[in-house]
Amino acid sequence: MDVNEVIHETTERKKGEMIVFASAKGGVGKTIISVNIAVALAKKGFSTCILDGNFQFGDVNLALDLQPKLTISDLIHDIDSLNSDILSNYLQKHESGVKVLSAPVKPEYADLITPPVIERVCDELLENNRFLIVDLSSGLSEHNISFMEKANKIMLITDLEMAALKNTKAMLKTIKALDLEEKTKIIINRGDMESVIKFKDTKNILNVEDLYFISDNFKVVSKSFNIGIPFVMSKPKEKISNEIGNLAVQLYRSNTLVKRRRRRHKKTSLFSVFKKNK
Ligand SMILES: Nc1ncnc2c1ncn2[C@@H]1O[C@H](COP(=O)(O)OP(=O)(O)OP(=O)(O)O)[C@@H](O)[C@H]1O
Ligand SMILES: [Mg+2]
Repeated sequence: MDVNEVIHETTERKKGEMIVFASAKGGVGKTIISVNIAVALAKKGFSTCILDGNFQFGDVNLALDLQPKLTISDLIHDIDSLNSDILSNYLQKHESGVKVLSAPVKPEYADLITPPVIERVCDELLENNRFLIVDLSSGLSEHNISFMEKANKIMLITDLEMAALKNTKAMLKTIKALDLEEKTKIIINRGDMESVIKFKDTKNILNVEDLYFISDNFKVVSKSFNIGIPFVMSKPKEKISNEIGNLAVQLYRSNTLVKRRRRRHKKTSLFSVFKKNK
């Protein structure tokens, strides 16, 4: 470790913690879980921001019943002079205390957001928040890899469907090749759903030791999403709210204010994994 790394690590430790919610397959519960985790952390008194990293079809605002005025694609015009005062103009505050940086209003604006923009915006948000939660789109796009590299933790979500598990297994291999395995944890969402594959089988299928379990509750989750009130607020006594609460506790108790790797000069892409494995 050289001096620059030591200095960098020391400064990083003062900042907040970044947790991204990813998945190999769409529709497995990233938005539901990340939004409710953000609210659970805010309820515990932590300053928390959620960044909607699903730049084409983000629906964090829907889950929180917010109407965005400005989004991350507007913020690009201020990127060179960005500071916490300027950034605060782009954040919406939810009644839970969670601050929201919204995804663009049109899918075609997604490409305006480059990896250096992601790096700059996350740095600024981490200066001012104890937790930065990021809800990603599914898969391993360039955007998603940028977020995953920068994060302290990657929560990889799947359910019990064969296709989701198969793709999660493949994504885990790539996560390993990208050297991001150490900070990755798996969440089995809807772990008691009707399926030929059971929760107890998933450790073997995915070849991982630690798994988080979130139960299936269509009635509560679907209503909460449709009315835009996170279930940890509207149904705090439900089992699923307790599970989210416990996960939030584990997230803030585990000491992961580890050094975030910066790769200013080295851009990681799926192509680099391809070359490495050739
Ligand atoms: N634990 C659960 N129990 C029952 N239904 C759930 C649960 N988690 C998610 N769902 C339902 O699954 C659907 C997809 O959830 P969500 O939008 O959070 O997935 P996503 O991974 O963010 O999807 P996308 O990849 O499109 O962003 C929603 O309709 C939600 O109501
Ligand atoms: Mg989503």
